[in-house]
Amino acid sequence: MSEGYTVAIVGAGLVGDRLVAELRRRDFPMKELRVLAKSARTAVLAGETFEVGVAEPDAFEDVDFAFFAGTEGEKGAAVQLADAAISRGAIVIDNGSDFRLDPKVPLVVPEVNAAALEDHEGLIANANCSTTQMVVTLAPLAREFGLKKVVVSTYQAVSGAGRSGVEALENGREDAFPRPIVGNAIPMIGGVGDDGYTTEETKMREETRKILSLPELPVFATAVRIPVHTGHAESVYVETGREATLPEVLEALGAAPGVELSEDVSEFPTPIEVAGEEGTYVGRVRVEGTAIQYWCVADNLLKGAATNAVQIAESLVGARARA
Ligand SMILES: NC(=O)c1ccc[n+]([C@@H]2O[C@H](COP(=O)([O-])OP(=O)(O)OC[C@H]3O[C@@H](n4cnc5c(N)ncnc54)[C@H](OP(=O)(O)O)[C@@H]3O)[C@@H](O)[C@H]2O)c1
Repeated sequence: MSEGYTVAIVGAGLVGDRLVAELRRRDFPMKELRVLAKSARTAVLAGETFEVGVAEPDAFEDVDFAFFAGTEGEKGAAVQLADAAISRGAIVIDNGSDFRLDPKVPLVVPEVNAAALEDHEGLIANANCSTTQMVVTLAPLAREFGLKKVVVSTYQAVSGAGRSGVEALENGREDAFPRPIVGNAIPMIGGVGDDGYTTEETKMREETRKILSLPELPVFATAVRIPVHTGHAESVYVETGREATLPEVLEALGAAPGVELSEDVSEFPTPIEVAGEEGTYVGRVRVEGTAIQYWCVADNLLKGAATNAVQIAESLVGARARA
């Protein structure tokens, strides 16, 4: 295929695998797809065999879009290599947390704040997986009723911690989580800060505020790892600015882009059912005055990572075509 973009994926882990799958499933226009990682080898991603190259500056020559899905931090792929990719002309879409709160970097969930893409400087951040599915559901409530406060408890799959998390569930690997995960529930995702909140909980607060452009919004999260392979679930409590009725809330959620709503209270989404699906699934909606409660579930590797990243690229391609 000679038409389309040259695309690089940095990271051949769980998100890298899903990025290949989503680029193919959504038929993103590509003339070349490169996979880069720490070490070169032959690897199968999403059923396709790749000669994985070493992630180094020159590997980004001629790349139009670089999806980063490596590790985070000072020695991580994005911190080390995003500038090299951008200076060679690539647009970087980063799945990690290193740049999400940088004021110069748009943090984008396309159903919610695609307009933020207009001001990018070559780097766009994908949100944390738990944040992404939550803001897809909060955005229509913010528009219709206003938001006063959000309280959320998460039930997060082991694949959210990458291959090592899956190995902890499947093979008893011991270094992925602070306690055994099999038969357990662990209310500690990431390190804990001086305020008592974990890094995952702080990400949910700060990223939600940035994406919704509500910098003061109170967001209280408790993030919990559970022994589920794929699919994060959340119990969300929202206090709204004006009183709402159940039909109004169902209408707002049902019409929201990206939301798949179960209106019947006896129907509810679960991680097993949504794994492999691209949407954000909502059920168990309850409303009382200014209090709204619901259950939401999404595939953390898809809407929480790969699907959202590809949607960002699609939005940029659409904007180019319109320009
Ligand atoms: N899992 C999720 O649900 C999820 C959701 C949202 C965001 N994220 C973020 O997405 C990223 C990838 O997550 P994952 O679950 O796919 O992790 P993973 O399964 O552990 O895979 C990580 C991959 O990154 C590669 N890598 C690490 N450091 C690198 C570097 N400096 N240069 C190039 N490649 C490097 C590794 O290469 P080798 O194979 O050569 O070691 C490996 O292939 C993380 O930043 C994570 O926080 C994950």
